[in-house]
Amino acid sequence: MSDWKEQVERVVRQVVAEVLSAEGDAALQDLSSGSLRKPLVAANWKMHQTRAEVRQFADRLPELSASVESVICPPAILLPILAEALGVDSPVRLGAQNMHPANKGAFTGEHSAPMLRDADARYVIVGHSERRGLFGEEDDFVAEKVKAALKAGLRPILCIGEVLAEREEGATFRVLRGQLTAALSELGAPAPDPADLVVAYEPIWAIGTGRTASVAQAGEALAFVRERLAEIFGWAWADRVRLLYGGSATPENATDLASRPDLDGFLVGGASLDPEKFARIVLAMHEARAAKKEGPR
Ligand code: PGA
Repeated sequence: MSDWKEQVERVVRQVVAEVLSAEGDAALQDLSSGSLRKPLVAANWKMHQTRAEVRQFADRLPELSASVESVICPPAILLPILAEALGVDSPVRLGAQNMHPANKGAFTGEHSAPMLRDADARYVIVGHSERRGLFGEEDDFVAEKVKAALKAGLRPILCIGEVLAEREEGATFRVLRGQLTAALSELGAPAPDPADLVVAYEPIWAIGTGRTASVAQAGEALAFVRERLAEIFGWAWADRVRLLYGGSATPENATDLASRPDLDGFLVGGASLDPEKFARIVLAMHEARAAKKEGPR
């Protein structure tokens, strides 16, 4: 393709994407200002997929319900490829898996929030247990990322969760409280728009293990998280913030988990690499929300 054609296409893509995202935000705002939170299913592709696989995924992705916000977080290098493969009128939003809190600088191998935003990412996963455990990221670094993401117009999907030993010794709530309080500690007043922050409860023992939290375990952890958020920002705020469950979520267990009143969606690893499975989880969330139409609480 000639240079000028590419440039025109790029500009058209950008304009359409901006219009679509403005419309999407308005819809989200409408819903979140009432008693209903728009469900969200986010795919965490981790270190998987090549360009060809991304294109295959997009080709095979079934139509997704517009009542659920669908987000895919590919490796950062694949963001433009995924955007192109999905097409400008796709309802799927893009997200990143990690970011550095500085806007720019000598941080070899890192991406800043403004860079990710520039690559059309709307969300960013922050504080994932793999980042904490394998790359030594501490609570204060996670807190800086949450703050920087919001400042750059990226919505953080903040991950918190306990390891198995902590659950077994009855420390789950203490761990969740500590991680949540620390991660939000950099946010001064006023509180961010509740539509802009997402918290994912991801029990570490359930991630990539095929072992899912029971409906009761996920439900009580998410209720606890919402209560802690209410302590920090008040109930009016906490009632509007979306809470996800992550940890071996599949089409098979999504329907039961989605019945919990505090669960607004999923952060999906392994199953999200399969477009059919991802779409079935989105559908499960759509159906669960339709079934509890009366409201979140
Ligand atoms: P999993 O990963 O669904 O493969 O357990 C979830 C995550 O790590 O976010």
